Amino acid sequence: MILRQRRILIGVTGGIAAYKICELVRRLRDLEAEVRIVMTEGATHFVTPTTFQALSGQPVRVSLWDEAGEAAMGHIELAKWAERVLVAPASADTIARLAHGFANDLLSTVVLATAAPVYVAPAMNQQMWANLAVQANVGTLRVRGVQVLGPADGDQACGDIGSGRMLEPHELRDILVASFGEQPLRGRRVVVSAGPTYEDIDPVRFIGNRSSGRMGFAVAAAAREAGAEVTLVAGPVSLPTPHGVQRIDVRSARQMHEAVLKASDGADIYVGAAAVGDYRPADVADHKLKKAGGEPLRLELAENPDIIGTLAAQPRHPFLVGFAAETRDVATYARDKLARKGLDMIAANEVGGGRGFEVADNALHLYWAGGDAALPRAAKTELARQLVARIAERFLANHGSQS
Ligand code: C5P
Repeated sequence: MILRQRRILIGVTGGIAAYKICELVRRLRDLEAEVRIVMTEGATHFVTPTTFQALSGQPVRVSLWDEAGEAAMGHIELAKWAERVLVAPASADTIARLAHGFANDLLSTVVLATAAPVYVAPAMNQQMWANLAVQANVGTLRVRGVQVLGPADGDQACGDIGSGRMLEPHELRDILVASFGEQPLRGRRVVVSAGPTYEDIDPVRFIGNRSSGRMGFAVAAAAREAGAEVTLVAGPVSLPTPHGVQRIDVRSARQMHEAVLKASDGADIYVGAAAVGDYRPADVADHKLKKAGGEPLRLELAENPDIIGTLAAQPRHPFLVGFAAETRDVATYARDKLARKGLDMIAANEVGGGRGFEVADNALHLYWAGGDAALPRAAKTELARQLVARIAERFLANHGSQS
């Protein structure tokens, strides 16, 4: 049976779609999954714990303060036990608490304490779903690598029609089944750099660039989903760390250079998604620079180390994936960069005019020796998944399945 001994924890929150989770538990049990249920207090107003206990064949937990439950399997044990955590239906309130890292009930605590992939299936009134506060919270969860499933459009229990219906039990079951499918990067170590670098001019000014870091963060989350152990070296951005990813914060290109080299020692794949500043002020002024009294102010710039280039020059180096952000002649520059920098793959995109930087979606064209592939415009999170799938394909083709 395809889910035999797979351990799935379902967090049920307060929403009318909770009744559909009864069916989901049945379907998962049909596939021989081990299912445990954690309910929020609100959920018990829709379905009783007894119902879920009967369907799952396991005790159901509601409270963090349940002594008997904690003695049998404490909340941390429960979080470690789970191979997948599905929060369904996920109410607006639970989504808000998960997005902000609350730990004020059993479910939110378990979600914080688990290293397992987390799936969230929102269910709420269409107006609530459209609310900017909810959307911002969902965005935060997505960036952290939580997979948001749905919601679907259609009739709602309250009589409205619109987006906010929880996905159907069979759809949720299929997603869980698929999630246990291949993890092509399981057991591999991946290092990703992301964001801009800031090069200080004086204590208050710097030279930077417009990279948002979103693409690199999405790549880190996707590599984690693909089973890799991921280190993310992040320039100055204010993005939340994707779930299960180890993050190292840096500011300048030289700091990034050092952190990447250290993290890449023995790594299998390096994805250089950072927009590394090519130059830095040769000297950082100790005090704030003053106006030059009508004269042009000259800054002398020194070249920064090429991070991916340094890696490429090492005799044993990870599979190297670079990014090429170009404003024109993308294909020519990308192919040239692939060869010149000694990379294994390059992901090229056209930037400027509202494309690439500071936006949530993007399109990429991948080049490697002897091939190329277009990844059409999509949300950066989706694009990152496709990119990682391609990287895994090329990496495994080059390295076979040996570790
Ligand atoms: O040559 P260019 O800067 O366009 O190349 C971009 C690629 O090289 C990106 O993958 C970027 O992360 C990497 N790079 C680097 N170190 C630099 C400059 C760029 O690793 N100093």
